[in-house]
Amino acid sequence: MDRQRTRHRIGILGAGNIFGRYVEGLRTFPELEVVRVADVDTARARQAATEYGIPAWSDADELLHDDTVEIVVNITPPQFHAKTVIAALEAGKNVYVEKPLAATVEEAREVLAAAASSTALLGSAPDTFLGSAVQTARHAIDTGRIGEVVGATAFVRSSRAETWHPDPRAFYGPGGGPVLDMGPYYLAALVNCLGPVAQVSAATRIGARTRTVTSPDRVVDEVTVEVPTHASATLTFASGAIATTLMSFDVWDTELPRIEIYGTEGTLSLPNPNFFDGDVRLKRHGDDEWQVLTPVTELFGAVGTPEQHRRGLGVQDLADALDGGPHRANPEFAFHTLEVLASFETSQREKRFVSLESSCERPEPRTAAPAHR
Ligand SMILES: NC(=O)c1ccc[n+]([C@@H]2O[C@H](COP(=O)([O-])OP(=O)(O)OC[C@H]3O[C@@H](n4cnc5c(N)ncnc54)[C@H](O)[C@@H]3O)[C@@H](O)[C@H]2O)c1
Repeated sequence: MDRQRTRHRIGILGAGNIFGRYVEGLRTFPELEVVRVADVDTARARQAATEYGIPAWSDADELLHDDTVEIVVNITPPQFHAKTVIAALEAGKNVYVEKPLAATVEEAREVLAAAASSTALLGSAPDTFLGSAVQTARHAIDTGRIGEVVGATAFVRSSRAETWHPDPRAFYGPGGGPVLDMGPYYLAALVNCLGPVAQVSAATRIGARTRTVTSPDRVVDEVTVEVPTHASATLTFASGAIATTLMSFDVWDTELPRIEIYGTEGTLSLPNPNFFDGDVRLKRHGDDEWQVLTPVTELFGAVGTPEQHRRGLGVQDLADALDGGPHRANPEFAFHTLEVLASFETSQREKRFVSLESSCERPEPRTAAPAHR
């Protein structure tokens, strides 16, 4: 039975590169309304409000005092997540924050504690694992299509942020790098399908020490790399499955797949987990051909179009949780995936297997999607 959907008013914090894709994505959900945009750079907030027809704009403080705002969507750079999320929770706002949950595990623990002592809800990106591709893979696993899962591979290729982002410094500073910038999409997909990770062993390094920025509207010409840009890790899941991962901003070309999951009876091949949808392919032992599985949820947008770059499903997930539904992109899930990714560096530094302190439930599967406009 359909739950009663209430209207949820949203204030967006941060009017940078991904802002427009959030507004466009959020506007596809009838129950979500963007009523304010705020930024430390208030001129930027004003310009964003004008461009997208948002009724109010301000600095962060005014956003937190706006009684009409029920959910703060935090799309500031990672190094500001902890401080701004905690401030919003303390102001009584429900918060949805972009990935990573915080720039470090220590900061993320503070965020988790603030969420635990608040009556407000906290949700965190990525939300692409809520899309049809990962949900279809999850359904195939849960219905035994590949037998018992033995292992998986996940390969993060270069995002070349310096070629398209006007200010790619966050990609090469704390909270960035391929592991924390792109890794969350892959980890969310894997943990959603296979459950929590128990142990990590990794080697990491920096590739090129500087990056030349070539994006047309760049605000800097060169970026110094402060975090590892090439990482190789083995993840042992609590289930016993073992994943081999490569996360790199130094792989300029490759023919490696994105994610594959291997079971005793067959293999699943998943599309780019940075997008919501795409072909999920299955090949069972004895099959001559791969078969494309029928998606178990409706698509977020047409595959291969800019709609796949939009965001909003995670905010809808939070709004649904406020209305009494399951909260899938929840803080425990986000914290666990962050702890897994952060332990790459611990393993490299201390030359040992790292046992994870946190765990999480696999989020409830989705087999039907919320109504789009
Ligand atoms: N750009 C992308 O393609 C992309 C994709 C997926 C996720 N994300 C995530 O979205 C977040 C934002 O990324 P972006 O590329 O839009 O960043 P950006 O640097 O382009 O924009 C960030 C904005 O936040 C503002 N800001 C900084 N500190 C603030 C504070 N304390 N209070 C209010 N505003 C503040 C800045 O002035 C800026 O306008 C990051 O967590 C990133 O990982 C970005």
